[in-house]
Amino acid sequence: MKLAVLGSGKGSNLQSILDAVRDGRLTAELVCVLSDHADAYILERARAAGVPAEFVDCAPFKTKLEGPGEQRMIERLRHYGADFVALAGFMRIVKPGLLRAFPDRIVNIHPSLLPAFPGLHAWQQALFYGVRHTGCTVHYVDAGTDTGPIIAQRVVPIFDDDTPETLHARIQEQEHQAYPRALQAIAEGRLRRSGRRVLGLRE
Ligand code: GRF
Repeated sequence: MKLAVLGSGKGSNLQSILDAVRDGRLTAELVCVLSDHADAYILERARAAGVPAEFVDCAPFKTKLEGPGEQRMIERLRHYGADFVALAGFMRIVKPGLLRAFPDRIVNIHPSLLPAFPGLHAWQQALFYGVRHTGCTVHYVDAGTDTGPIIAQRVVPIFDDDTPETLHARIQEQEHQAYPRALQAIAEGRLRRSGRRVLGLRE
């Protein structure tokens, strides 16, 4: 697997992927990390690990990856020889151009038990809704928002004294385990599809 990671923020999931590659738990080559924010900490984490890291201008849009920005992203992914893309806090909706360039080869991690609480600030949505458990989901990316076939999920309890911050931190602990494991299952070719169901992941 020649893996590219796309992110917009602090990159803690990227760090879990870097650590898993270093420790041999993920047999992938991390070929590049690309961000739509020039000052995103995810780029610094990549550079510190010796992975090529670039800002990709995704203008003129702010919340989607479409048009010239999408073309630039595809060009950089091809330049680095990526054959699989992991979104890790990439704050744009992916559009059909990128999906066609990497069919069934783009995954994402989302901080809730999908299909509950898609979209932004999912941990906050779960807390304010009042559910007693939430979690994280690794899923294939399709043309919807957080709607693709589910690969892996981890459950996280919600406590009475949780704040959005404490809950997000507890979810992220699970994300950092779930994402590298799901990627390794894909890298080993262990997963198969039956309709929407993704089979073959042993937790
Ligand atoms: C994570 O909570 C992930 O589920 C969501 O964005 C956040 C990214 O965090 N998609 P980080 O940048 O990996 O720390």
